[in-house]
Amino acid sequence: MAEMYDFILTKLMPMIETYKIKNICDYGCGDGELLEKLNTQKKDLSLTGIDYFSKFGDKNPQNNKSDISYIDRESAEYEKLSELNKFDMVLSTFALHHFQYPIGELQLLTDLVKSGGYLVFVDLVFQTDNQAKIAKNISSYIEEMGLAIKGHYHRHHYTLEEVKDLIKAIPVEIVTAEEITNELTEEENNENIKIKLDRNSLIRKNLSKAPEHWKELWLPFFEQEKKIVEKRGYDMSSLLFFCLKRNKKNNI
Ligand SMILES: C[S@@+](CC[C@H](N)C(=O)[O-])C[C@H]1O[C@@H](n2cnc3c(N)ncnc32)[C@H](O)[C@@H]1O
Repeated sequence: MAEMYDFILTKLMPMIETYKIKNICDYGCGDGELLEKLNTQKKDLSLTGIDYFSKFGDKNPQNNKSDISYIDRESAEYEKLSELNKFDMVLSTFALHHFQYPIGELQLLTDLVKSGGYLVFVDLVFQTDNQAKIAKNISSYIEEMGLAIKGHYHRHHYTLEEVKDLIKAIPVEIVTAEEITNELTEEENNENIKIKLDRNSLIRKNLSKAPEHWKELWLPFFEQEKKIVEKRGYDMSSLLFFCLKRNKKNNI
C-alpha cells in the first residue's frame, strides 16, 4: 500500500506543522511502514508504534534499527503509557474496522492523548457508487464471515456517519470528518487488484488442503470473490479521514 501512505502523509504533514506536534503514537501500526516514512520526512518527531507485536514473526518492527519506539499492546510498558496520556497526536490507520469493541478502544486511544491534543483516524470507507467499490465491500464481508466463524473479528468498512456516531462516546470536538479520494493511477489500481487476486489465490490453495467440511463451505466464497474482482476491479481509493481534538472534560 505504499502509495496510500504517501497520500496520507500529504494530509498529515500540514497538520503536524500547524499544530506544532512533537510526538505521535500510531495505534495498530502494523509493520510500522507509515511511522518509518514519517521518521524519514521529519526527523525531529518522537514516534511510538503500538500493536500486538508478539504475533508478527519476521515482520516485527521491534527488530527495526530506527529510533522509533515499538511497544507491544500486551506489555506492562503499554499499561504505563496509557496512564500518562502524553501524546500530542494519536494516529490510527486502517485499524478501526479491526476493533471488536470500538467504543472501549476509542476511549483507550483518547486516554493516550494530551488534553488539547489530536486524534487522527484513517480507514477505508463503505461506498457503493461504482462496481469496483462494491467488489471491495463484498470482499470485506467475506473476510468478516470467515474470521467470525473462526471466533476472530473483522468488520466490514464503516461509513462516515457510522464513525461520527461512534465518536460521540469520546470527549473530542471534530476538526475534520470527511471522505477523501486517493486518485490512483491505472497502474496503482492494477497493482491493488493483483495484490487482492494473489491473496485470493493463496487462500484458495490453502483451503484446498483444509478439512472437507471447511473446504465445501468456504471455497465457493473465494471462487466468487475471484470472479467479482476479475470482472469489476477492486477500488481502494476512497478513505475516511477524521481529525479530532481532545477536550478537557468527558462527554459521557
Ligand atoms: C490492517 S492493519 C493496518 C496496519 C497499519 N496501521 C497500516 O496502516 O498499514 C490493522 C492493524 O491493527 C492492529 N490491531 C487490531 N486491533 C487492535 C487493537 N485492539 N489494538 C491495537 N492494534 C490492533 C492489527 O494487529 C493490525 O496490525
